[in-house]
Amino acid sequence: MSIIYDASAKTLTLHTRESSYQLQIGPLGYLLHGYYGRRAAGDFAPLHRRKDVGFSPVPYELADETRGFSPDTLPQELSGANAGDFRLSSVCVSLPDGRRGADLRYVRHEIRKGKYALPGLPAALDPDGEAETLSVTLRDEALGLEAELLYAVYESRDVITRALRLKNIGSGEMKLEKAASCCLDLPFGDWELLHFHGRHAMERQPERQSIPHGEVRISSRRGESSHQHNPFLILCGKHTTEDAGDCLGAMLVYSGSFELALEKDQMDALRLVAGIQPEGFSWTLQPGESFDTPECLLCFRHDGLNALSQRFHRFLRRDLCRSAFSEKARPVLLNNWEATYFDFDREKILSIAREAKDLGADLFVLDDGWFGRRNDDRSSLGDWFVNEEKLPGGLEELIRGVKDLGLRFGLWVEPEMVSEDSELYRAHPDWALRVPGRKPFLSRSELVLDLSRPEISDWAFETLRGLLERYDIDYIKWDCNRSLTDLCSPALTDGRQGELAHRWVLGLYSVMERITAAFPQVLFEGCAGGGGRFDAGILAYFPQIWCSDDTDPIERLTIQRGTGYGYPLSSIGAHVSASPNHQTGRSTPLDTRATVAMAGAFGYELDPGKLSEEEKARIRRQIRRFHDCERLLREGDLFRLTELADEKDYDAWQLVSAGKDESLVSLVLTHPRANAKPLHLRLKGLDPEASYAVLRYDVFDAFQPEPPEEQPKQVTGAALLYAGLTLPRMMGDYPSVQIYLKKTEE
Ligand code: GLA
Repeated sequence: MSIIYDASAKTLTLHTRESSYQLQIGPLGYLLHGYYGRRAAGDFAPLHRRKDVGFSPVPYELADETRGFSPDTLPQELSGANAGDFRLSSVCVSLPDGRRGADLRYVRHEIRKGKYALPGLPAALDPDGEAETLSVTLRDEALGLEAELLYAVYESRDVITRALRLKNIGSGEMKLEKAASCCLDLPFGDWELLHFHGRHAMERQPERQSIPHGEVRISSRRGESSHQHNPFLILCGKHTTEDAGDCLGAMLVYSGSFELALEKDQMDALRLVAGIQPEGFSWTLQPGESFDTPECLLCFRHDGLNALSQRFHRFLRRDLCRSAFSEKARPVLLNNWEATYFDFDREKILSIAREAKDLGADLFVLDDGWFGRRNDDRSSLGDWFVNEEKLPGGLEELIRGVKDLGLRFGLWVEPEMVSEDSELYRAHPDWALRVPGRKPFLSRSELVLDLSRPEISDWAFETLRGLLERYDIDYIKWDCNRSLTDLCSPALTDGRQGELAHRWVLGLYSVMERITAAFPQVLFEGCAGGGGRFDAGILAYFPQIWCSDDTDPIERLTIQRGTGYGYPLSSIGAHVSASPNHQTGRSTPLDTRATVAMAGAFGYELDPGKLSEEEKARIRRQIRRFHDCERLLREGDLFRLTELADEKDYDAWQLVSAGKDESLVSLVLTHPRANAKPLHLRLKGLDPEASYAVLRYDVFDAFQPEPPEEQPKQVTGAALLYAGLTLPRMMGDYPSVQIYLKKTEE
């Protein structure tokens, strides 16, 4: 049993292999948070000394007994509102008579086998039948609100999931003003925050900072999880490194506007409240109706950030993503976007596909510009029929041509948006979000389809189904190239406009859920102007997401590092593109571009017709190497070999297979130096008792036809772990090296 109820101590303890989480049913039914940390048995309640703190109120019934019991200072499992706790609220409702707040007290709990479900929302599954669920019901009798706290424990994964179900048990209408997924009070510890901010083409830049007193909010109000912030953060101790120390990750399984709010209070305790963005949110519940929040994934590790990332990676790949592709080898694709942009015709596409096949790619992706009258980004979104001027004979013939080459075929779509200049918009101008009396905001000349309306999300589903039924398509790149503005839907009357942003996300999920279930053989890749919606909500349906519109490998080092703190490498769409790079103008060696793209769902995005024979030979070798290491790259444990704060002249990372029998080390030199000091790496994750053959894959500027043929060196795991490896001198602009290690028999 991973969930234990101790009736005498009134504690509920959730154990994973390496962590424990405890709640305590306190006086007057207050549900207190006891502990979340390294696995330990016992009752943690005595840790929290009840101290009389000035200006922190005490429940009426306890006033005479003790002044030390205040919801304002004790760790709460679910903070209410207008109920004696002045810190961040997690739940708040309002009634027509003006009453507002939430004062929730324990009623009952239930422990059961299996995983709770959140209908309509993406949430972790239970593929190995190991999950156990704890449900704790709380009530605010005066306001007629019931809250069911849902926890699932994945013991072997070190992950605990949380969600909240709110129910109107009163006799009249109720409005939810705030409905967070998770409230976590950490009464002790000097925590730092590691979060991932950015902008278009510069997503998920890791930033680690101390947490000041007051409030810090990591959030999106853009209707999507956004390029600017990510619904994932890590709290870590001041001295936590990649390989040692306490760290706690919280990740929302949600793709819409969100908030991860932190408050460091007067006693230095830290509260995290994670969930749907409360600003602008409201949800009406009639008597008997309930509301489910998105899920939040929690993981605690005592042994550093690499271990934490590895747990999230495995969990997302195996327990969250529904796609059969999640745990399968992915095709090496070649996408025509940076090769042609909108400027292509049938011949051009077929010649790129021919070259792609010759290079060893498995799948060709036709990106934007194949439909309607789309020759730039100003028209035709919504007109999902082929542009016969560009592609005479239609998609059938083009796909046949690509398939005859022995390649699989992929197609780009953007089903959530509409161009003003489109047949769809002319037929249904009322399908786009807009505030009556105002012109809507344009972004990339696009308007947002109101997916909160079932007839419009049904249209999106039927349109995609039509394409996938009619054409022999193996892969879909699903794009979303703007944020939501003009939030107003004619379908939401009676003061329900506050539901729109969330209903829009639910509409999106209903399309994703139906289409992926109807076409399980199709590989879907998410995209939102690159990485504008890189989150666990999307990854529940699609096993990979285009990580960023920035394909410069040196910029990608940071973008992919930031993304990889939470999300598995197999989910990070990464392509080798042309040099000089189209976004930064930087020139980099072809092999370095491949070294970086292999730390992701690997592919190419360039015009192979522009490559020299030597470059083509290199690409063939890269693709062979990728196939050799594919499983290791997809499933291996990731170890970052540098610390975020290090001022290093290189970035390096390592993948180690589950059995520790093979490993790939990659290093990119970002700053060559005169009279350089030796480049030295201590490796991680290997078996110290084993012996490894070290095969170097040179990827300097000098062309190496094949990996070195001389007898591989044998080195013990212990030597690689404790003494390390010194690399040969590397010169020039951005060279990189990959080192492959294989355990030998004796
Ligand atoms: C977005 C994507 C790109 C490409 C273009 C097409 O920006 O991120 O990869 O598909 O749209 O318009």
